[in-house]
Amino acid sequence: MDDGTPDEAFAEFKTRQIGAWGVAQIAASTGLAVYAMWVGILQPGFRKVPLRLQVPYIPASKAQVQNVMTLLRGRKGGLVDLGSGDGRIVLEAHQQGFTPAVGYELNPWLVRLARFHAWRAGHTATVLYRREDLWKVDLSECKNITVFLAPSVLSLLQKKLQTELPDDALVVAGRFPLPDWTPCRIEGHGVDRAWAYSMQAQRQHIQEK
Ligand SMILES: C[S@@+](CC[C@H](N)C(=O)[O-])C[C@H]1O[C@@H](n2cnc3c(N)ncnc32)[C@H](O)[C@@H]1O
Repeated sequence: MDDGTPDEAFAEFKTRQIGAWGVAQIAASTGLAVYAMWVGILQPGFRKVPLRLQVPYIPASKAQVQNVMTLLRGRKGGLVDLGSGDGRIVLEAHQQGFTPAVGYELNPWLVRLARFHAWRAGHTATVLYRREDLWKVDLSECKNITVFLAPSVLSLLQKKLQTELPDDALVVAGRFPLPDWTPCRIEGHGVDRAWAYSMQAQRQHIQEK
């Protein structure tokens, strides 16, 4: 048994040099842990999605959700969140009266988590989370669409929205604006900001150009 006092052990620990081998071990195990988290928790469901279209999960902040909801005020009917993560926007939209409120999400863990949140809030039967690739969802009947995706995919998303959405649709983008569209309203500041786009106004802008 080591008979040193805790103070002595701590002093020895403080003075011990980690060395290059120790640094390499720490770096390797950190890298492995990050990779395991990516493959096991964040990436499942994305194997068939091209790398350039893969968007990581980052939840919207509370202020961002509120800004999105402010921009949707006065709107009615159904709502679709493309890449719904843990379902926070869909659940909030449902609580604000949007029916049906549907989230499309590829990551099965996030779909389960979103359903758990809906169950805990007592909305299991009325809020829908579908494990589907957002690029394959037909949006032709959608009137209210929310998105919080990476800037790298927003040009492509614009094309999909432009082709499929009806004229009376409203698109609300959180954190990153759609690169070529002109917003009809903006709410919030910094990373919490959200932009609203009227599909009809957008089509008029494109025709005028
Ligand atoms: C930045 S997070 C936003 C999550 C949520 N909408 C929010 O505001 O908290 C983007 C989400 O889109 C999902 N996603 C990315 N590509 C997708 C795809 N092709 N189909 C469905 N979901 C996708 C990711 O798994 C991630 O959960």
